[in-house]
Amino acid sequence: MTKCSEDDVFEVAYKASRAYQAALDDRNVMPSAEAIRALRALHEDMPQAGTVDVAVINELHKVGSQATVATTGGRFFGFVVGGALPVAVASSWLASTWDQNAGSWLLSPVSGELENIAGKWMLDLLGLPKDAAFGFVTGATMATFSSIAAARSSLLRRQGYDVKAKGLAGAPSLRVVMSEEIHPTNVAALGYAGIGTDQIESCPVDDQGRILPDQMPQLDANTLIMLQAGNINSGSFDDFRSICMKAKKAGAWVHIDGAFGLWARVGLTTSHLTDGIELADSWAVDGHKWLNLTHDSAIYFCRDTEAVNDVFGVDATYLMKDENRQPNHFTPELSRRARGIEFWAALKSLGRTGVESIIDRSCAHARRFADGLQLAGYIVLNDVVLNQVVFVADNEEQTRKALKLIQDSGRVWLGPTTWKGQYAMRISVSSAATTSQDIEESLQIMSNALSTIRALSR
Ligand SMILES: Cc1ncc(COP(=O)(O)O)c(C=O)c1O
Repeated sequence: MTKCSEDDVFEVAYKASRAYQAALDDRNVMPSAEAIRALRALHEDMPQAGTVDVAVINELHKVGSQATVATTGGRFFGFVVGGALPVAVASSWLASTWDQNAGSWLLSPVSGELENIAGKWMLDLLGLPKDAAFGFVTGATMATFSSIAAARSSLLRRQGYDVKAKGLAGAPSLRVVMSEEIHPTNVAALGYAGIGTDQIESCPVDDQGRILPDQMPQLDANTLIMLQAGNINSGSFDDFRSICMKAKKAGAWVHIDGAFGLWARVGLTTSHLTDGIELADSWAVDGHKWLNLTHDSAIYFCRDTEAVNDVFGVDATYLMKDENRQPNHFTPELSRRARGIEFWAALKSLGRTGVESIIDRSCAHARRFADGLQLAGYIVLNDVVLNQVVFVADNEEQTRKALKLIQDSGRVWLGPTTWKGQYAMRISVSSAATTSQDIEESLQIMSNALSTIRALSR
């Protein structure tokens, strides 16, 4: 195997990345069927001999770039996945070059320090308790799992039960109070922590998917309450203040799934939606959604530092604990990538006003969508308080047909959902790359789709 110089392979990767970014605006949001078929060419038996690095990267670009979904562009509205800020991509390149193992401060002082700084900045930015523990994890699912593991340990410890020593068999049974509107990954995360679906007590919700505080089951010191900052359809927020007050009286634990919605705390037009959120016990939020970091990147915060260390505090003599914060005492993994670096770089680049601007801009785009869609003749089903718009055409058949036409345009992509039993289309605005021009172009396509469907059904 001939090896090229390292310069060559990095150069090729850099040029491919820039070419990908430059083509974003002109390409279809979804990959073509042909691009997906071309992936078959990658299937081969495990090669006996190697391939020149440059050729590997060239093949990756040639076949791979075409088969991506353009979520980093401005017209992907299908899921809340955000885009990727240039500074996020660039800092993750550099961090990958460093190949730091972020699990130990000793193994990566730069990652250890930047995690400390980024974690504190995040607490400040989100107005959460300054001393809360934090851990950098893959996504909101793991952020919620980490929080639940700490909640389980804390709630049981208060009852004199040491779950770390004794395990869950024989532990006092915990109750979980949540609504059926909660994101399904919360139920999965409960399962990972040994808490089953039979332990869940469901709360009734209002027309926007918010828990009705007066109709919650009785709370007690065995209860873990899971609340939502940002309903995945409507974007709505639970009433954190009143529910947290009830929970405090009962000695219950409140966890907030704020995968994307916790960022509303920073937006000038949205911060009121998060009133009282700081009274909770743990919080999960993604960086790879609304902060527009690359995947995978999330953080959780937990008021009970002792519980976090109890659950995750793995020590071994070779790990050489010192006076620094040991990152692996806060996360399920030991070895992992240095996610704090990208958080730090994005927050440093944006500043508070930059984050504010991404959130406020996305929400303004969502409101413009709602107005434009209604003008075009669609019916918007939710109160557009955040970045989410749920809408329908005149009937289900027309909604399905309109969605197909919109998707087939290639220029914009959004997906279906079911809202209050009704088949609907759903828009999520979360890419920092989205411009007003993207919204107007998308609205035109959606408006044309409805006109076409209506004309055909006449
Ligand atoms: C409200 C909510 N919670 C949790 C999740 C899971 O997040 P992740 O995919 O980062 O684990 C999502 C993902 O879309 C979400 O929107």
